[in-house]
Amino acid sequence: MILVTGGAGFIGANFVLDWLQGSEEPVINLDALTYAGNRETLARLEGDARHLFVHGDICDRALVERLFAEYKPRAVVHFAAESHVDRSIHGPGAFVRTNVDGTFTLLEAARAHWSALPAGEREAFRFLHVSTDEVYGSLGPNDPAFTETKAYEPNSPYSASKAASDHLVRAWHHTYGLPVLTTNCSNNYGPYQFPEKLIPLMIVNALAGKPLPIYGDGQNVRDWLYVGDHCSAIREVLARGRLGETYNVGGWNEMANLEIVHTLCALLDELRPSAAGSHARLITYVKDRPGHDRRYAIDARKIERELGWRPAETFQSGIRKTVRWYLDNPAWIANVQSGAYRDWVARNYAGREARA
Ligand code: NAD
Ligand code: DAU
Repeated sequence: MILVTGGAGFIGANFVLDWLQGSEEPVINLDALTYAGNRETLARLEGDARHLFVHGDICDRALVERLFAEYKPRAVVHFAAESHVDRSIHGPGAFVRTNVDGTFTLLEAARAHWSALPAGEREAFRFLHVSTDEVYGSLGPNDPAFTETKAYEPNSPYSASKAASDHLVRAWHHTYGLPVLTTNCSNNYGPYQFPEKLIPLMIVNALAGKPLPIYGDGQNVRDWLYVGDHCSAIREVLARGRLGETYNVGGWNEMANLEIVHTLCALLDELRPSAAGSHARLITYVKDRPGHDRRYAIDARKIERELGWRPAETFQSGIRKTVRWYLDNPAWIANVQSGAYRDWVARNYAGREARA
């Protein structure tokens, strides 16, 4: 059994769905169901005995300890976090609480559990911390891509809180010997992403004929990776990563935001043409994000060399799949936009809720 935190969020839910498609090993899914947690995403696992959903907070030490004691997971895959940079600018407190205190709480509970295990199980135990490339800071146009040895230079409350959590994970390995692994991944896109992030926001707004807000000059660069490829990288690192190591995960796919949005508009023009003309007419330049990092780029050679991992999708194939998914799932989008996703379980599965 593995313990996944944040498995009702975008990447965590994709990971749990992928995991249970390829394995019989059960998952305990601990998620606080903040605005970003969506049980509807996990609908197809309702009634599946391999998935135990626990509605709870990673900062709740007693709950986390109880889960370790009762289920004795052989590994933790830690996704739970506050993840949106814009929200961190307006309300950094929740980011420090979940990303720093929450990771600390999990590490301490994991350490107590791990240190009491018999020798063989102790050796097999893993704590995989899912992190971001944003901890490395911002690159200039000619700087080399981030390697795992790049100094940390976080610039937003979000990236600072993730950097702090990465350091805690590192320290728990060096000081206590906890068998940890850390992944630092670039921007993900794909099904079930909350429409506050660039790609789903642009798709949803374009379909509704609303403005497509471009921060600043639209020339900020990100490296983009299909979420299924991030999940496969995490599975590889969990299975074969070297203890205490960090692995950068990326798609070798740097693109400026404006280019992304034009790509999305062209795909929507093809797949869902609008009588009003090209969706690109909706592009609107707005005030820049404070402290907006200019460029991220990931050097993923370590995970490729050591673990043989490669992304299965190109940006062209992944973004087409993604746009199709949003076109094919209007009910998921509508429930997110109306807020109906918040009580999806109560409406669909009253009385069958897993206990917390
Ligand atoms: P998300 O915001 O979609 O989901 C976060 C999940 O964590 C939600 O289900 C939420 O309910 C849960 N959560 C929040 N606070 C919690 C708490 N205190 N206790 C328990 N659960 C809590 O995030 P995401 O985009 O899926 O990101 C998942 C992880 O991957 C994060 O750690 C993030 O830093 C990292 N990451 C994200 C990206 C990306 O592009 N989205 C890229 C690299 C790394
Ligand atoms: O790099 C990995 C990170 O990618 C993850 O750690 C974060 O959790 C994830 O949110 C993401 O952070 P970004 O800030 O890069 O993602 P976001 O989708 O918010 O923005 C992507 C780029 O698009 C960024 O340069 C800001 C810009 N943007 C974003 C929005 C929401 C716009 O121009 N307009 C918008 O409306």
